[in-house]
Amino acid sequence: MINSFYKPISFLLCLLGSLLFSPAESPAQGRKVNFEKQIWPFLKNSCVDCHRASYKKDGKLKKPKGGLRLDAAWAITLGSEDGAIIDAGKAGESAIYTSVMLPADDDDVMPPEGKADALTEEQKVLLKQWIDEGADFGGWAGSLEGKPKELSNSGGKIPVSEIQEVYKKLAAGLKPTSEQQWNAIVEKGGRVMPLAEQSPLLAVDFRHSEQEVTDDSLAGLSALGNHLALLDLSQTGITDSALGSIGKLERLVRLDLHETQVGDAGVAHLATLKNIRYINLYSTQVSDKGLQQLGKLKSLREVYLWHSKVTAKGVKQLQKKLPNAKIVWK
Ligand code: HEC
Repeated sequence: MINSFYKPISFLLCLLGSLLFSPAESPAQGRKVNFEKQIWPFLKNSCVDCHRASYKKDGKLKKPKGGLRLDAAWAITLGSEDGAIIDAGKAGESAIYTSVMLPADDDDVMPPEGKADALTEEQKVLLKQWIDEGADFGGWAGSLEGKPKELSNSGGKIPVSEIQEVYKKLAAGLKPTSEQQWNAIVEKGGRVMPLAEQSPLLAVDFRHSEQEVTDDSLAGLSALGNHLALLDLSQTGITDSALGSIGKLERLVRLDLHETQVGDAGVAHLATLKNIRYINLYSTQVSDKGLQQLGKLKSLREVYLWHSKVTAKGVKQLQKKLPNAKIVWK
């Protein structure tokens, strides 16, 4: 009722808007953003140099940065090594948008400062509007090079509310750690953070360590074993033997091992992680044999296997064992 009362008013406002804003492609005009005409040209100009299919330069293989390609509709939908970068309808939750909105001198701003043309205010508004309108590519497909043979997507990403519920359960009755207990990790270049204010659960991250991270760097993990919910070891020098101690982290929910040397022997140690929801094995040595072990982890909801050694057959079998999991691979 209230809605229908306001409709004529919003219609008038729209009309007024289109009279006041005459530039042809102005987002204020109330017309749906056209991806190919209004978004693609500036993505191509400012982003695609770093976010496109792997290619050889001076004999070296250049991979898309962050595992993210922005040169194809399927690739943008697939997202980065960390998962989706667009939450259709919610620009504020979409990394493709939030990463361009960071301050110009932020380490994570896209494009990185000075490396490509920063987006203009108008381009940012268009990008936001396009996502808020549902992130529709229209007829645009982009590059088909490297398109995954099959994308299993029977389950979506885990809803935030569900994850919060998991953390709440795991935190119940757990005493907080003292910062002294963190020392063994911090000394080896790891970062330790409480999962949230007041939460006894911890996140540990070795990814951006300034020190070289090897299996020995992880010795301090056992002291925090009961409290670890998130562990990021991506892009470090760890090997399969480090995973023996990780298999004992009973509250581990998220494990990121992408771009490491980890393979099937390591994954075999993970079959005991009864609270695990997310495992990222993008660009590792894991093959179908390792997937048989992952199939035992009934709590798993998201598995990233892009650029690993798994095959279509192995992924299908894993999907059968984990019907609710989102499995992304190539
Ligand atoms: C000069 C190279 C370069 C350019 C140009 C560039 N990026 Fe990136 N981008 C990177 C690198 C490097 C990373 C990975 C950062 C990391 O892993 O910590 C990244 C990561 C990202 C991610 C994060 C993925 C995630 O899930 O966290 C997004 C989103 C992204 N870029 C979007 C863009 C957009 C949009 C543009 C253009 C407006 C752009 N990038 C231009 C180098 C670039």
